[in-house]
Amino acid sequence: MNAIEINSLSKSFKKSLAVDNISLSVEEGEIFGFLGPNGAGKSTTMMILTTLLKPTSGHASVYGYDVISNPSQVRKNIGFVQQEIGIDEYLTARENLQFQCKISQVPKEQVTKRIDEVIDLVELKEKQDEPSITFSGGMRKRLDIACGLIHRPKVLFLDEPTVGLDIQTRRKIWEYIRKIHKEFGMTLFVSTHYMEEADSLCDRVGIIDYGKIQAVDTPESMKNKLETDMITLSVTPDKTKKQRFIKKLKTLDLIKDVKINETNMIVQSSNSTQVIPKIFQISSEIGASIDSFVLNKPTLDDVFISYTGHNLRDETNGKFNKRKEFNQSRRRAL
Ligand SMILES: Nc1ncnc2c1ncn2[C@@H]1O[C@H](COP(=O)(O)OP(=O)(O)OP(=O)(O)O)[C@@H](O)[C@H]1O
Ligand SMILES: [Mg+2]
Repeated sequence: MNAIEINSLSKSFKKSLAVDNISLSVEEGEIFGFLGPNGAGKSTTMMILTTLLKPTSGHASVYGYDVISNPSQVRKNIGFVQQEIGIDEYLTARENLQFQCKISQVPKEQVTKRIDEVIDLVELKEKQDEPSITFSGGMRKRLDIACGLIHRPKVLFLDEPTVGLDIQTRRKIWEYIRKIHKEFGMTLFVSTHYMEEADSLCDRVGIIDYGKIQAVDTPESMKNKLETDMITLSVTPDKTKKQRFIKKLKTLDLIKDVKINETNMIVQSSNSTQVIPKIFQISSEIGASIDSFVLNKPTLDDVFISYTGHNLRDETNGKFNKRKEFNQSRRRAL
């Protein structure tokens, strides 16, 4: 049985369609990444899967339990670490976990052992008796994650677990997530708008944009499907030789395109292993020297652009955040 099944799921808010007819399945034990920019519909989908919101149409189930007709069974099997940190800042780390054990009905005789276990896992032993208001952002998130897994859910939902954290803290959180996965073998459903996170952490990734799923696959296979290695060459400044070089390269079947800028030549190819020797062969035939040579494989960034037609980074970090403006104007219109 799949851990999560989503069929034709939609959610609209008054005038806006946050989730638009999505279908996907998540296998038991995998780390599934839900990758999309601000306002893509990630949190809305996760809130439906965790029974906090009702869909407008469609179906979703967790371990075979329908989120609408059987929400209490769904809740028993899941943990949800929401986008906003959910801990009580005035309680110590240990008290937060004790409280969490109470509300998720962890058997009394197991409480101390479970708390010791998760506190060790997220490396908060030294700080366990200090009020969490004194914690850094990364430590708060670690405690929040510990609260989400104290009752040993079968599926743990993590909504943007590293948003707003610096890159070192982010990498540390990925380490904890991997550790949790290894230790408990649970299914993880992680939303993110960080490419590196999806690429490094997830077994499979679903790209969501404007409420629609654009693609679902392993990061590796998504990149391979693009079939565009980029070979950047710095070649002889001799214009005539350069032109002859480009003309000859363009006759090769495996080369998709050759672009030139002021200093470099960029060769796009579906098969760099076969093309590279040919590039050198042609350069020596026409006497054009190659001064430098760099091969870049496609990144998940390139994958995102190819499916959505825009760059995720521009959307999330850019100074002019068009999507935010779009969402704000949409909300104003409500
Ligand atoms: N309670 C709500 N009422 C009205 N509109 C909502 C509500 N919740 C979400 N939306 C809208 O639905 C769309 C999807 O929002 P959602 O929070 O699911 O996106 P997200 O992918 O989680 O974005 P972010 O990366 O910013 O967290 C947005 O346009 C948002 O404004
Ligand atoms: Mg969100």
